[in-house]
Amino acid sequence: MGNNNESGHVMRAARRLAVGLVSAALLIGAAGPAAVADGGPTTLRAASRNLLIGTAVGLPQLDTDPTYSQILATQFDSVTPENAMKWDTTEPQPGVFNFAPADHIVAFAKDHGQRVRGHTLVWHSQLPSWVTNGNWTPDQLRDILRRHIMVEAGHFKGQVYAWDVVNEPLDDSAILRDTIFLQKLGPGYIADAFRWAHEAAPNAKLYINDYNVEGINAKSTAYYDLIKGLLAEGVPVSGFGIQGHLGIQYGFPDQIQANIQRFVDLGLEVSFTEVDVRMPLPVTEAKLATQADYYSRLLEPCLAVKGCVGFTVWGFTDKYSWATYFAGQGAATIYDENYNPKPAYWAVLADLAARGRR
Ligand code: XIL
Repeated sequence: MGNNNESGHVMRAARRLAVGLVSAALLIGAAGPAAVADGGPTTLRAASRNLLIGTAVGLPQLDTDPTYSQILATQFDSVTPENAMKWDTTEPQPGVFNFAPADHIVAFAKDHGQRVRGHTLVWHSQLPSWVTNGNWTPDQLRDILRRHIMVEAGHFKGQVYAWDVVNEPLDDSAILRDTIFLQKLGPGYIADAFRWAHEAAPNAKLYINDYNVEGINAKSTAYYDLIKGLLAEGVPVSGFGIQGHLGIQYGFPDQIQANIQRFVDLGLEVSFTEVDVRMPLPVTEAKLATQADYYSRLLEPCLAVKGCVGFTVWGFTDKYSWATYFAGQGAATIYDENYNPKPAYWAVLADLAARGRR
């Protein structure tokens, strides 16, 4: 389907939802289907102007589900492979690289004029057992890490606009996470990873990325201090990635705009990289309204700070969302499992339309 049909689809969805969402729409103000009916932009992409509105992309649904790929192509201007660039996929055996799944996603993005965020070069999770259980000496592990980063970032040079170079290097106590890399290489592995990534892909923005760092708290402050120290040593960190995995039952973080601003003041760009807002099931209209409000309250501070350049959702439909990984929870994305836009979709669209930068 082309753009006109997509607009028609959205308009039909808007009409279908208009009745059912009256109470939710009241709670979220202008962020209802009416915002679209007024002749404003009908896709997130059209509304987003200078902010990259992105989504995680999964396989095989990109190929097997035409509605999925059609919404992906029309609503978003940036994509992040959900799993295809992780170590267990890209280097499943020592020195044996597999870029076919990620290349496929990159080709889709290119065909649709979309940017690609690379996720991720160094992470403790989805790490093949040959890395973790290899009994490597520090020198061997350092060579393994260097090769992995150089080959992967080199392969996607010029195609990936930003890399999550190191993902989740701090733990929930806001100290360096006890990973195989920290154990064998010491804290310097982080600086090394950024230097290697810069050598392989000199034009890419290079991010540190983590969860529970939306507002000002002990963990985001630990990142502020860590990054300030790295920059003082000349390490090429250029972005701070705020994942943005929230749940309505946990409350909403404080001081998000001030947090974004302090990283921008360090000279970095900031992006929301994995936004979703899960809820305890079952879904109710009240929960959907709260969810929409959470999406807005993450997006609005990003729109308010010039250095906040991207807002990526971690999947756009409940049909494929990872959020069911949390027992009894889910419904975390902006479209339901039948691709009906949820109140959160209208909230994001209305925010982009009203506050997108010109
Ligand atoms: C998740 C994917 O969505 C799942 O498909 C996979 O099984 C596990 O990883 N933080 C991250 C992402 O940085 O890579 C994770 O993605 C979600 C949490």
